[in-house]
Amino acid sequence: MTQAASIPGPRGIVLLMPTRNIRKKTHEYLSLLETKYGEISKIKFGPFTVIYLANPDYIEHVFLNRDTYIKIQEGGMLRILLGNGLLTSEGDFWLKQRRLIQPVFHKNRLERFVQKISESTNDMLLHWDNTNGTEVDVYHEMNRLTLDIVGKTLFSTNVKSEFNKVNTALTKIMTAIRNRSRFMRFPLWVPLPSHLRIEHNRKVLDETIGDIINQRKQENGKFDDLLTMLMEVEDADTRERMTDKQLRDEVLTIFVAGHETTANAMAFTLYLLAKHPEIKTRLQKELVEVLGNSEPTFEKLQRLEYTTMVIKESMRLFPPAWMIPREAAKDDVIGGYPIKKGDKVLVSPYAMQRSPNYWKNPEEFMPERFSADKIKDIPRYAYFPFGGGQRLCVGNNFAMMEMQIILAKLCLQFDFELPKNFELELLPLITLRPKEGVPMKLVKR
Ligand code: HEM
Repeated sequence: MTQAASIPGPRGIVLLMPTRNIRKKTHEYLSLLETKYGEISKIKFGPFTVIYLANPDYIEHVFLNRDTYIKIQEGGMLRILLGNGLLTSEGDFWLKQRRLIQPVFHKNRLERFVQKISESTNDMLLHWDNTNGTEVDVYHEMNRLTLDIVGKTLFSTNVKSEFNKVNTALTKIMTAIRNRSRFMRFPLWVPLPSHLRIEHNRKVLDETIGDIINQRKQENGKFDDLLTMLMEVEDADTRERMTDKQLRDEVLTIFVAGHETTANAMAFTLYLLAKHPEIKTRLQKELVEVLGNSEPTFEKLQRLEYTTMVIKESMRLFPPAWMIPREAAKDDVIGGYPIKKGDKVLVSPYAMQRSPNYWKNPEEFMPERFSADKIKDIPRYAYFPFGGGQRLCVGNNFAMMEMQIILAKLCLQFDFELPKNFELELLPLITLRPKEGVPMKLVKR
């Protein structure tokens, strides 16, 4: 029997970058791995073996075998926070939940949210009217806006004070998690001040969301929001609805998964448009032709072809979910190489979507790549900002619609300019962010 070849990669401490830079620039490091070792490479990070895949077929294999390549289980902070919601659960439980929730995000049901997204955007633009050409951090503004949108679409506005409580508690938990030492991580039951803070805020979250759900059950009025839709979904076989605990987990999951990614994508898109005035002008022309002074409708959004191409190209260069990790739950083989149970497997929209093996002039911002006649030439898993397989982002259509509306309204009413010497620096945390925000001068059109 022939011995399977071992996966190529840097040996021991011979890395391709100083270690301290790898953490800050992991997104670039992955591209270096591809250049040096090809479509599959292996690297040791402390006790872990990490296998990086840079071939669309290998990536597809991982996405299509969700029982073999599961979400990474250890660490589990997100799981502690989100419980058994869609983002963190696995196996049959996840599948049952996914089947319940997916229809809520179906394209046909999104129309009802156009108005809410438009209203939130209008509020922001009204506030911008008063900036009088002063500099504004649009990254911060986009975060505020998408948070407002997720609040309105999930809970409607009648629970604004509860929504603020949820947001404050969540931010405190996230900060406490982020500030935990990298080297000495005690289990959460050790009564450290940061752990007590997490526990206290977790209780606040549970109680507040519990109150919102109870209140909603008692109210007769119909609310056209995601919470109502989630409360009404029924299992096709058993006709069972979600328990309150499960509702809590799903509501929080959508809250967490549904706003920062969209905000980052918007901030990067505005940055790219400011850098490419000719593309901004073409975009504005389409917006005037399709929307003019009217409010966007679901039907009109379908006609914003160039706007959609701009958003897709922006998410090619700066995918907010820049890295998607998995863990092998059993032994497997990829491209003839052995993958061992317990190996971490990484795929990266950031690195793949800039790979010169699959993209011409990969560093250039060219929305044309996504025109109807060119898009078919892109291999399926050379572009995957929303992930893939059964665990594809459940909110992808919602996110695309949200970004179309925000971008359309904003570019119709404002022009924007970056400060002269601004250089974008990236911060690759769980999501890819602009490290120092994106400062812009806004000028009313
Ligand atoms: C530009 C915006 C967004 C991006 C780039 C994005 C990206 C992603 C990616 C890559 C995944 C898959 C993660 C994995 O396989 O490990 C994912 C999953 C998910 N996303 Fe999004 N997302 C966005 C917006 C949204 C929105 C608006 C919502 C909800 C309103 C949402 C809810 C979710 C949920 C619940 C999951 C878990 C799905 C499952 O495992 O069944 N996302 N997202």
